[in-house]
Amino acid sequence: MQELRNIFQQKFHRPAEAAASAPGRLEILGNHTDYNEGVVLSCAVTQRTAVALAANQSSRINLYDVRSNEYCSFDITKLHEKISPRWGAYPAGVISELQKRSLTIAGFDGVINSSVPLSAGMSSSAAFEIAVLFALMKLFQLDIAPAEAARIGQGVENNFMGLQSGLLDQFSSIFGVKDAFILSDFRTVEVVETAVMAPEASILVVNSMEKHNLVDSEYNQRRQACESAAAKLAARHVGVKTLRDVSSELLHSEKAILSDLEYRRALHVVSECERVRKAIELLKKNDLKAFGQLWWDSHESSRINFENSTPALDKIVELSHTLPGALGARLSGGGFGGITIHLVENSCIAAYREEISRRYCEYCKRMPETIICQPGAGAC
Ligand code: GLA
Repeated sequence: MQELRNIFQQKFHRPAEAAASAPGRLEILGNHTDYNEGVVLSCAVTQRTAVALAANQSSRINLYDVRSNEYCSFDITKLHEKISPRWGAYPAGVISELQKRSLTIAGFDGVINSSVPLSAGMSSSAAFEIAVLFALMKLFQLDIAPAEAARIGQGVENNFMGLQSGLLDQFSSIFGVKDAFILSDFRTVEVVETAVMAPEASILVVNSMEKHNLVDSEYNQRRQACESAAAKLAARHVGVKTLRDVSSELLHSEKAILSDLEYRRALHVVSECERVRKAIELLKKNDLKAFGQLWWDSHESSRINFENSTPALDKIVELSHTLPGALGARLSGGGFGGITIHLVENSCIAAYREEISRRYCEYCKRMPETIICQPGAGAC
């Protein structure tokens, strides 16, 4: 943070007045359950995006991004015009969401830096939105409750980027707890429990290096299929509002009223919610083997039912089955490319990392990026 403040001083010849940082996140289990009002087990990571700002007494927003060495400048009254470089749309979206809530701010200068991998499924965009938002809250003394802050970030995705995403990414970035997983309920919109994993295993992220761009993916179509399945079930069952209210037994008994596609999409979501609940019990018992098996089951459900996997993600997960020390692996986040997460016994992790990289590279001539991830603290 001090380094970022120094860069601010160099670029804008005065000290920064406010700074904030927000982490990326890993979805541990509970794939595509958030917008179905379901439950998710996730964590923030130690990779973060940091922002340092100062007001500039004008209507301009002037930003410098250290990682890309790019500048971006736009007018606060022209947020909906084309902003270049494209990353400028995120802060513009945050300001637009603030304006919608009658929270007004003025022009500012800012510098940004980030260690969250881009377009990988670790929520670099949520980390960016929340870091900007928290810094603006400080700079302009805005009083916004944390859950509402998450909704502002989600609003940027929904209204500015055209992605009908849920709350998971921004929520995890804000409510993340150092060294713990959080269990979030997206009906009541709260963290209901935290869970700690036995120290014998670690999480290895293996990035397929296939950029996942959810805006251009079938993400929104998946959401529609879930909602149409839920509507058909709701019409016949009092108490069913979303897929969150559906058990796998109920879904199975009503298979005939759904199209095959709706059934498989719903089955993924319903079974993911069930896996999240099981996972919490298994973590309490320190049963890492059964916990990891849920990761493999989750991936299989993504592959067959939700169809948000890709041949490259499938290949990485297939390789995991053959490696010593493997406890489980799955795609994590929206899917359609991006990262896989692996639960690996600590004693094997170095060899595992090397071997999976080598074999993935042999398969697609692309070296994957691998990161050993620790649950990190939320935005501040
Ligand atoms: C993306 C979305 C989240 C969530 C996940 C899948 O990360 O932004 O809201 O739906 O995909 O669980």
